[in-house]
Amino acid sequence: MNAAAREALTVSGLTVAYRSDAGWLPVVEEASFTVREGEVLGLAGESGCGKTTVAYAMLGERRPGSRVMAGTVLLESQDVLAMPERDLQLLRGARISMVPQNPATSLTPTMICGRQVMEVLEYHRIAAGTAARRRALELLEEVGLRDAPGAFARYPHQMSGGQQQRVVIAMALAARPRVVVLDEPTTGLDVTTQWRILRLLRQLRDRFGTAMLYVSHDLAALAQICDRIAVMYAGRIVEVAATRVLFAAPRHPYTRALLAAVPSLDRPPEAEPALKGSLRRDELPPGCPFAPRCAFALPACAVTPQALVAIGVGHEAACWRWRELDGGLRALAHAD
Ligand SMILES: Nc1ncnc2c1ncn2[C@@H]1O[C@H](COP(=O)(O)OP(=O)(O)OP(=O)(O)O)[C@@H](O)[C@H]1O
Ligand code: SF4
Ligand SMILES: [Mg+2]
Repeated sequence: MNAAAREALTVSGLTVAYRSDAGWLPVVEEASFTVREGEVLGLAGESGCGKTTVAYAMLGERRPGSRVMAGTVLLESQDVLAMPERDLQLLRGARISMVPQNPATSLTPTMICGRQVMEVLEYHRIAAGTAARRRALELLEEVGLRDAPGAFARYPHQMSGGQQQRVVIAMALAARPRVVVLDEPTTGLDVTTQWRILRLLRQLRDRFGTAMLYVSHDLAALAQICDRIAVMYAGRIVEVAATRVLFAAPRHPYTRALLAAVPSLDRPPEAEPALKGSLRRDELPPGCPFAPRCAFALPACAVTPQALVAIGVGHEAACWRWRELDGGLRALAHAD
């Protein structure tokens, strides 16, 4: 990834709420990040932190019962959130596309896979008829399906989960979008298939310079593919850094706890206090949202809002104790 590359996607102050009995409940707050051309940005965090809500917002999609309260999502300097639905339909799949978690939900069960790829090409007026057929076959080859004509003629249920996901990736890339959003694309696949899909995505990024926002709770998977990673907690981005930096020198206690739980890392598991409890959105304090679970929390944390601040080159964190959390962690941690 070229550090001087232009921004493909620029998100500023994104705030999304869901309707609840108590009114509009924000589940993503003030999220800001960029994805540069040819870059893979990871979005990490526990279940329920708001990753999928962010992912859908990138395509101007509002999940049922949700509302964008503030923010902009700039794709080639156009604000996706301000576009009418008619324009969004032309944009989706052409300039930005999505690979959702479950390939089965994005494939039509009653249509052969090749026809589904052809439909994307025809919808976006890239090719029609035999040209679309030829291009669909090429795309199925590009995503590593060995017997492309065979894959073309099969229904989704006649394929494995990994093969289905490759077809979905072929559809997502068919119009050569600038940005692809991937929401847990390898969840539910076995480890070898996961690895193959990650390798394929890396190859496609290198070949076409596609910018990718890769959403996952799996830091080990993110480490394999991402140039940078943004960590979310309770709807807020709490740390952003280059993948290497995040793994070698995480500063936010939440990032540290998440990393400590990744078994394959070069780090003894007892080096960090374990992550306490689970994310309870109904019990978030007015200050730092992580305070109820943070081993390093001081009384001031619960009442002092934390914003992302630059703490190094390309490294931001939302914890006012980041300087202290450099060594002697056990001494700083509060006894339970
Ligand atoms: N339709 C909805 N109505 C109300 N609340 C919702 C709705 N969809 C999601 N939420 C809530 O919004 C929050 C964020 O959900 P989201 O699906 O974005 O999280 P996530 O990080 O993608 O989680 P996961 O890792 O489980 O996929 C959660 O607390 C969830 O309960
Ligand atoms: S601000 Fe306080 S509670 Fe929040 S992460 Fe930092 S030390 Fe923990
Ligand atoms: Mg999700």
